[in-house]
Amino acid sequence: MNVCVIGTGYVGLVTGVCFSSLGHNVVCVDHDLDKINSLRCGVVPIYEPGLKELMNKSTKANNLIFTTDLEEGMNEATIILIAVGTPANKDGSANLTYIKRVALEIGQYVRPGMTIVTKSTVPVGTNKKIKQWVSFSSGHQQFSIASCPEFLREGNAIKDTLEMERAVFGVEDVQAELALRALHKPINPTIIVTTIETAETAKYAANAFLATKISFINEVANVCESVGADVEALARVMGLDHRIGTSFLKAGVGYGGSCFPKDTQAFIRIAAEANYHLQIVPAVERVNHEQRYRLLAKLKKSCPILAGKRIAILGLAFKPHTDDMRAAPALDIIQALLSEQSSTIAYDPVASDQAKRLLPDVVLASSWQEAVKEADAVLILTDWAEFKSIDLEELKVLMRDSVVIDGRNLFHPEEMKQQGFYYDSVGRAQ
Ligand code: UGA
Repeated sequence: MNVCVIGTGYVGLVTGVCFSSLGHNVVCVDHDLDKINSLRCGVVPIYEPGLKELMNKSTKANNLIFTTDLEEGMNEATIILIAVGTPANKDGSANLTYIKRVALEIGQYVRPGMTIVTKSTVPVGTNKKIKQWVSFSSGHQQFSIASCPEFLREGNAIKDTLEMERAVFGVEDVQAELALRALHKPINPTIIVTTIETAETAKYAANAFLATKISFINEVANVCESVGADVEALARVMGLDHRIGTSFLKAGVGYGGSCFPKDTQAFIRIAAEANYHLQIVPAVERVNHEQRYRLLAKLKKSCPILAGKRIAILGLAFKPHTDDMRAAPALDIIQALLSEQSSTIAYDPVASDQAKRLLPDVVLASSWQEAVKEADAVLILTDWAEFKSIDLEELKVLMRDSVVIDGRNLFHPEEMKQQGFYYDSVGRAQ
């Protein structure tokens, strides 16, 4: 199948690379010439395990081309995938500027029989607007539109795409359904065909539900701390009931990233605009926000005056296997530490470049050992495997004071106590 993917951000690039690796002919289009030139040279602008290798394989096999020219991209294509960004406006609504610009441009080259699919997460009703924008500039309506939202996770993007469990095709006609079926044929996921509005809403509902699971287990963890229960064991008890499920029940410092914070906010707004005031999702957001500051309160229990103290941060990315720091708990926590005049030194296996940009006042270490050297306390904010395998004796020798506040429950409280640490984590006995 000849496919044109517009936008080479996270979703667009992964989608283009994965579908080309399955034998489709894919042209990825982006207006950013520098980015396209780097991609042509095999340079991937994001950190995503396996992406570079797969991309180079597809370009070598001539299944994947990069261009800034939309006309060239759409020349042979029967299906167009829109994957441009929809950043949040100040009021939490999704900014559709890029989507509109792309839709108007598509209209210049759209041919009868083409299907235009939105992969970006867009407010309910956007696909209908896309239809209007495209037809406004093309002067005809002989094309189909569809919503096929993306469910991949950063850090796991290739597997999530090539082995996707389900796909939702929000379509207006059979032409769009058939085009999407042909595109997904090599993957063979469970397919649910719906209206466009259902597909658009499903993406927000799925992310809001996952965020709810996280805030729920974090609230349970907070109760565990007061009643002397252990959230890790408790989550297992809950999760083994298949109606609940074991995933997304990991208590910690709360969720971050480019999706949950933005999508929960947008969902609240979308519902309010439709005259329904969501009650659960705003609470999910509140719990998530407070969870970051609970970790700071734990630090203050052992270190009441932070001014002049050397605090080591282990983990800056919002989760492991990514360098993404968007809405990461580390951002709020480090700002709070700096505002209390502590001297903060941070280490992350891959997010240092992002950190230089987002946290210019923070000293960055090039190893965990360098970060914790002479530290009064260590705060663990990302569950990187590298931190889990830290040699505790080495850690103790390097630190000035043995305070470890673990926002990801990487260590066992009992073992930490035996090793002589002051150790606090989330939802477990201290
Ligand atoms: C999320 C969804 O999982 C994807 O299905 C969706 O496609 C994507 O958003 C999107 O909308 O594009 P992602 O943001 O990449 O994916 O990351 P997740 O793996 O879901 O993790 C999100 C946050 O939740 C991380 O900060 C993680 O540390 C936290 N988390 C996750 C927990 O605190 N506990 C858990 O049990 C699971």
